[in-house]
Amino acid sequence: MTSPEAPVLDAAEWDDLQRDIVHCTRCGLCQTRTKSVPGQGTCASGLMFVGEAPGGQEDVQGEAFVGPAGKLLTELVHGIGLQREDVFITNIVKCRPPGNRNPHDVEIEKCLPYLRKQVRMLQPTVICTLGNFAFKSLVQEDRSISNVRGQFFRKGAYTFFATYHPAFAIRNREFIDVMKRDFALLGQKVRSLHGNHHHA
Ligand code: URA
Repeated sequence: MTSPEAPVLDAAEWDDLQRDIVHCTRCGLCQTRTKSVPGQGTCASGLMFVGEAPGGQEDVQGEAFVGPAGKLLTELVHGIGLQREDVFITNIVKCRPPGNRNPHDVEIEKCLPYLRKQVRMLQPTVICTLGNFAFKSLVQEDRSISNVRGQFFRKGAYTFFATYHPAFAIRNREFIDVMKRDFALLGQKVRSLHGNHHHA
């Protein structure tokens, strides 16, 4: 059953947005990318994940989190009883920075309106930021991820949750267990918030 508050996604508007991202030329990354990566999935569970920027494999396939970091993210999503298609997975910056360098401020500034529109259209119950970069761009500039991980933040109309970037946990495997604990918390919260929504 669809509750009265459930967002009704305008499919044509959504397709237009995804298409705009695919053909975007707002910054110089369009000259070096193979494919732009709008993001994929749904907010059926209420959950959206936001990473930093596409890596090598994402750039080739045009899909977010399909490389090694994506493999860990998928395992963590499965660990809280969800499938990839139940969550929306995207990035702050939709095109790969050459050599996986950090995105420049101007690239973020040009690209953020796409993410904002995706959020407005999908109305996620919780937006999980993966790593420092997404947290700083979306929630709060001056705090490092090790101080904010495992916590929820209310900002504007949205609830955010911070955890590490899966690529960081791949390089520092002792953090995989921390991420599992963070995801358990995240899963609980989304079930309690989004579960109620469905019974409205
Ligand atoms: N790292 C990210 O931040 N995003 C991806 O899509 C892949 C790796």
